[in-house]
Amino acid sequence: MENISIQKIMDLKGKTAFVTGGAMGIGKGIAYRLAEAGANVLLIDLNEEIGKNTEAEMNEKGFNVSFFKADVSEEEQVINAINFGIEKFGNVNILVNNAGIYPLIPILKMDTKEFEKIINVNLKSAFIFTKIISEIMIKQGNGGKIINITSIDALHPSAVGLAVYDTTKHGLWGFTKNTALELAPHGISVNAIAPGSISTPGTGDGTKMSPEMKEISEKFIQKIPMKRKGDIDDIGKVALFLASDLSSYMTGAQIVVDGGVLLS
Ligand SMILES: NC(=O)c1ccc[n+]([C@@H]2O[C@H](COP(=O)([O-])OP(=O)(O)OC[C@H]3O[C@@H](n4cnc5c(N)ncnc54)[C@H](O)[C@@H]3O)[C@@H](O)[C@H]2O)c1
Repeated sequence: MENISIQKIMDLKGKTAFVTGGAMGIGKGIAYRLAEAGANVLLIDLNEEIGKNTEAEMNEKGFNVSFFKADVSEEEQVINAINFGIEKFGNVNILVNNAGIYPLIPILKMDTKEFEKIINVNLKSAFIFTKIISEIMIKQGNGGKIINITSIDALHPSAVGLAVYDTTKHGLWGFTKNTALELAPHGISVNAIAPGSISTPGTGDGTKMSPEMKEISEKFIQKIPMKRKGDIDDIGKVALFLASDLSSYMTGAQIVVDGGVLLS
């Protein structure tokens, strides 16, 4: 057994992480922990105003962070984001496919456009990013870490109205396992984090929640054995584990981070 210090195992200095949907919510929580461990971080997000604020907030803390505006479901914009990041930081070692949307629309009310949008943002984006970034990682020759943010809905449905969302999250979990198989010979590990209910701007953060979401959220908290919603750092800490050498022998795994709710 090699005797590596805890500090060294978690040290991401000299590494670069691309985090999609990193402007706010879970992506921001992940970006913070990776930056704290020393990684350069590229936040890729549609929301320029919040993305720029997060970039400034993190750089004020002494981190090395850049923001790039892109829609992750548009291949050309993704290519521009990746080119920007490589030019800026010189390498990419960690990819976090986090950007996602979860509109609550029963399939009886959903049209094909809405269906395609959810599939494109939650699933097609992960394909585009994984393909291009793993090609770069293979050329770099020193492996890499890919982390896909799925959901407990990849394992079990949590609410009516999320059928297509659940489809994308089951899909992303399947994509995680098969890309893990394909990329392992190149030293690239692919793992997933399945969050339970996490307080984020997207879930309303308790303030601008729609009445339906509020009702779902309140019922849901009652079912959580730990009796609280998770916060973004609950996910950030697990992402640090998967992005660092702490998870050196893991690939194709999905870590459930849900306060125990799948048990209830
Ligand atoms: N919050 C939860 O309870 C929860 C639970 C399980 C899984 N997740 C997953 O975690 C991920 C993040 O969720 P969140 O709650 O932090 O969401 P959020 O809405 O709070 O933040 C999502 C971020 O992604 C960005 N984004 C959305 N569409 C984009 C696009 N097309 N291109 C670029 N950026 C885009 C948004 O601008 C935003 O900054 C999602 O994949 C979601 O499915 C969340």
